Amino acid sequence: MIKLTVKPVFVSIILGLSLFLAVVLLSPYTTFLSLFPSAGESDIWSVRRLVDWRPCKWWLHRHLTPFPAKSNGYIRVDCYGGLNQMRRDFCDGVGVAHLLNATLVLPKFEVAAYWNESSDFADIFEADYFIQHMDGFVKVVKELPPEISSKEPFHVDCSKRKGQFDYVESVLPALLEHKYISLTPAMSQRRDRYPRFAKAALCQACYSALRLTRSLQKKAAELLEAIPKPFLSLHLRFEPDMVAYSQCEYQGLSPTSMQAIEAARGDRKPWTGEVARIWRRRGKCPLTPNETALILQALSIPTNTNIYLAAGDGLMEIEGLTSVYTNVVTKSALHTGEDFTRMHGNTKAALDYYVSINSDSYMATYFGNMDKMVAAMRAFKGLYKTLFLSRKAFAEFTYQGLEGKELMQALWKVHRDDFLMGRGSALPDCFCEFEL
Ligand SMILES: *[C@@H]1O[C@H](CO)[C@@H](O)[C@H](O)[C@H]1NC(C)=O
Ligand SMILES: *[C@@H]1O[C@H](CO)[C@@H](O)[C@H](O)[C@H]1NC(C)=O
Ligand SMILES: *[C@@H]1O[C@H](CO)[C@@H](O)[C@H](O)[C@H]1NC(C)=O
Repeated sequence: MIKLTVKPVFVSIILGLSLFLAVVLLSPYTTFLSLFPSAGESDIWSVRRLVDWRPCKWWLHRHLTPFPAKSNGYIRVDCYGGLNQMRRDFCDGVGVAHLLNATLVLPKFEVAAYWNESSDFADIFEADYFIQHMDGFVKVVKELPPEISSKEPFHVDCSKRKGQFDYVESVLPALLEHKYISLTPAMSQRRDRYPRFAKAALCQACYSALRLTRSLQKKAAELLEAIPKPFLSLHLRFEPDMVAYSQCEYQGLSPTSMQAIEAARGDRKPWTGEVARIWRRRGKCPLTPNETALILQALSIPTNTNIYLAAGDGLMEIEGLTSVYTNVVTKSALHTGEDFTRMHGNTKAALDYYVSINSDSYMATYFGNMDKMVAAMRAFKGLYKTLFLSRKAFAEFTYQGLEGKELMQALWKVHRDDFLMGRGSALPDCFCEFEL
């Protein structure tokens, strides 16, 4: 008797529970309500994501198209600017080399003469590893055949070319004529116009075949080791040249910062009046350290969080952050044995990059080349705690006069939505969305 009465109760509990679970899991409305903690309850990373970015399957496997037996010639990619810009251009160039059925020579990295360190491609990335990992995508050689190595390549500069131009049409003739060209890829060429086999080469080059040299990796691993864990790597950009370039004006900066910005301005005068307001609301003005601290608090990042500052030397008004977030570390404070004034800018950039692709979380106040590269590599490695702070939302809310708790709530909501949709956490060129 007892058995007979207990069982139905048990069964109905199970049934009830499953029904409840099914309703919770299947109804988008309850899911949305229950999965979105509001500001102050828990940090931004505990928001349940709906979308994840992972490397697209089509480029993880080689031999998409058999490589032509006959090469149209040799291409060297010439790269300029900071480390991550050079890397981006190089990756584009690898795609172009495949598009043109060319053989790739190791690229030329611009080396600024004033650094006390050599910083060519092979000083930063492991050349043999690269060549090996490009096998089946693009042929790469270290040495040119003797009949070609004696002459300088014919230079083809596409850096200023915009959107709608065709590499086959505009570069192939020079390649066929000279057999050896150096190429500076277009800065704003849209990669989605590459055929897939060329894009596969680009993705493989950028996200899988580039590894820091052993000595750089050792240096970076030591730095990573010295950072208290767990930690947030914060790419904060509030340097004089950045602010000058933005043409934004700020109230209440220290005289030292004002002078540094003024010195960096050159012909670029800051906007004033209505133009300045519109400019700011369009999200064109870099976040200051104290604005950053405010947003971090809005995202419920505890003020005792360990923060590694992935930033250049000229960062201004840093007290705005460190007066709120007290556990902030920098590479120069951790790596006291290093002479950072003599270290090459590319080496420092490589250290920040390495730490940032290995940190527990990463946040950036800007969407620059480093941020895009770091976000993509983090997605490649399955690290999802990546977020870009919104200058635009911040400017808009403060323009609307939001303050205090209201401002915090509004900032929370915008960033929560970005985070749960994975917005900005990888570039769509080589990464695909997966629903979670
Ligand atoms: C590259 O090689 C493939 C396969 O042989 C061929 O179909 C394609 O037209 C070639 N492209 C160029 C630009 O030479
Ligand atoms: C670079 O620095 C080292 C020591 O820090 C010094 O011995 C060397 O002469 C410097 N080289 C150049 C090219 O300045
Ligand atoms: C941020 O700093 C500026 C100048 O340093 C100051 O005018 C402003 O009041 C600060 N804002 C906050 C929220 O602390």
